[in-house]
Amino acid sequence: MNKIRKAVIPVAGLGTRMLPATKAIPKELLPVYDRPIIEHVVKEAIAGGITEIILVTRSGKEAIENHFDAHYELESRLEKKGNKTILGKVKNIIPKGVNVISIRQHDALGLGHAVLCAKHLLNNEPFAVLLPDVLVLDSPSVDKNHSFSAMLKAWEETGIGQIMVEKVEGNAVENYGIADLSGIPAKPFESIKIAGLVEKPSVKKAPSNLAVLGRYILPPQVLQLLEKTTAGVGDEIQLTDALHELLKLDGLNAFLTDAETFDCGNKEGFLGANLAVGMRDASTKKYLLDLIRSNNWK
Ligand code: G1P
Repeated sequence: MNKIRKAVIPVAGLGTRMLPATKAIPKELLPVYDRPIIEHVVKEAIAGGITEIILVTRSGKEAIENHFDAHYELESRLEKKGNKTILGKVKNIIPKGVNVISIRQHDALGLGHAVLCAKHLLNNEPFAVLLPDVLVLDSPSVDKNHSFSAMLKAWEETGIGQIMVEKVEGNAVENYGIADLSGIPAKPFESIKIAGLVEKPSVKKAPSNLAVLGRYILPPQVLQLLEKTTAGVGDEIQLTDALHELLKLDGLNAFLTDAETFDCGNKEGFLGANLAVGMRDASTKKYLLDLIRSNNWK
């Protein structure tokens, strides 16, 4: 099956859950450890072989595009100073052969609408969608599969769209798209047929505790379905509703990950992501452990 080359990253959200931090700064540029959240997500896409990143953006968020562009003045100053390590960090964010392009979403009509805004750039090709709030931290051990890459492989082998899911507890189902797997127990890194998808169900109505976490591999047919999708939960055009239709026509699989995931669009997830990434770097791990131990926090 065709390799996936394009990834849509919707970045037009207002970031209301993180105000006032996001009053003047796009939420996608808040840092996790030493770089903006979105750089982690773009790197995840590129590691999977994506060569075209399509940002669906809006006015006031130009700083995101600037982050992925060259900064001549800064680069030339760092070069003159001979500061090669830092220069490498600002200069090579996007490797050669990868393009970052953007398109505007003029109305805040929901995730489904944001994806549809990229239609004419997708050229009827299958594509990925990565939500930039969510950080997926796979196990650092080398023999472990990288979730996004493994999900791309599942697409290449089957030609069936893939939706990454994770297990959530209790009433957390009310915050996510939830997948119905007809009761089949899912194991990590398995791709299993989805029987239904429902956006933000009540605990009572949730068909499982498997939540859509924000990584999708989709065939282009979903764009035609999105064109017909009317406003759903929250009065927004929901990607989940179009996917529910897609699975009846072409099938759709859930891909379960056991990665640590963090929703950086809220305080807990944002703090957790910073701590988790900091703990993965030997140079900051000791500091963090000492800080926690010495403060005797309860
Ligand atoms: C969106 C999707 C939802 C998914 C979630 C993951 O919701 O509509 O299906 O579970 O992202 O973060 P949002 O968080 O934009 O309300």
